[in-house]
Amino acid sequence: MIYFDHNATTPIDPQVLEAMQPFLTTFYGNPSSLHRHGRAVKTAIDQARQQIAALVKVSPEQVIFTSGGTEANNIAISAAKASKKGHALMSSTEHPSIVEPMQRLALQDIHVEKIAVNSNGLIAADILGSSITSNTGFISIMQANNETGVIQDIATLGALAKERGIIFHTDAVQSCGKLDVDFGALNVNLMSLSGHKIYGPKGVGALVYDKKVNLSPVFYGGGQETRLRPGTENVAGIIGFGKAAELALQLQESRATQLLGLRKKLEEGISGIAGLVIAGSGVERLPNTSQILMDTVDGEMLLMQLDQQSIAVSSGSACSSNSKLPSPVLKAMGYKDKLALSAIRVSLGQQSTLEEVDVFIAALKATINR
Ligand SMILES: Cc1ncc(COP(=O)(O)O)c(C=O)c1O
Repeated sequence: MIYFDHNATTPIDPQVLEAMQPFLTTFYGNPSSLHRHGRAVKTAIDQARQQIAALVKVSPEQVIFTSGGTEANNIAISAAKASKKGHALMSSTEHPSIVEPMQRLALQDIHVEKIAVNSNGLIAADILGSSITSNTGFISIMQANNETGVIQDIATLGALAKERGIIFHTDAVQSCGKLDVDFGALNVNLMSLSGHKIYGPKGVGALVYDKKVNLSPVFYGGGQETRLRPGTENVAGIIGFGKAAELALQLQESRATQLLGLRKKLEEGISGIAGLVIAGSGVERLPNTSQILMDTVDGEMLLMQLDQQSIAVSSGSACSSNSKLPSPVLKAMGYKDKLALSAIRVSLGQQSTLEEVDVFIAALKATINR
């Protein structure tokens, strides 16, 4: 089986699994308990918090564990209401876990607008500047897109918001671990992360925050995670996420070099296919991602045919692949419906090999010819 769908999820790294296992058996205490079982687990959670903090270069108190990137995004968006301003902005290529909660801000009398991207999926600083009004209190722009891998210049966009005192959030679920991510250098106030995109477990993530920003929980209960995320912690998940973050920090550069080399081979290998376009190829992208468009095919059918040949890719974002509508990300980049519906996303991972890339190239060409 060739698994080229790492932006949907990654397999757990064996070292991550090993770190988690004792917390499913031996260390079963509740971290809120004052006795030694609880204290031992609390210490381990503190260590995981340090590992996440080190990955994005913040202090551990700035990290809140959540059930994943979706929940981190939802908590981050609570800052829009706290800003007491009536206008908020997001890019037009955000993940549904931003789009849906942002749209709900209308219920709180906050008018939300999308910032246009260019044909490469990028937001130009002057476009952001002209979208900001005196009433803008909150901006959310993802660092790297899950479908195309296109990387926004968050440091520049964040600086624009900072100058105007606007709270700036970035969804770094896809970029973290694949790029060198520095919270402070990016000029952001809030950042979302997820465990299962970096060889950690599913169902765990984190919101990294500037303590000056007022946040509200999405649900209420006990005092865990400074009351911003109440409920007994997903201990094994948090430990695994911490270990995955530690490995990501150690291996980020070597993984990126390896992935970039493989992707170059892949894109060279398919470049002769008539009418083929790689979305966002004109700008910086995540080293592992190629969103391939070919006007002669249907992306979903191609995905199924590759699946029959034991090759797993995605037809756009995993979270929206139930719908037959063209990807809003590709539409925002100006692609016509037919071309957008032909898209398949190839996302490589640390286990991917040159042999697999060669098999994929041959299978893609043969399938299209059929
Ligand atoms: C850019 C982006 N943000 C958020 C999420 C949601 O993260 P999670 O699956 O941890 O809820 C995803 C998952 O696909 C994503 O790609």
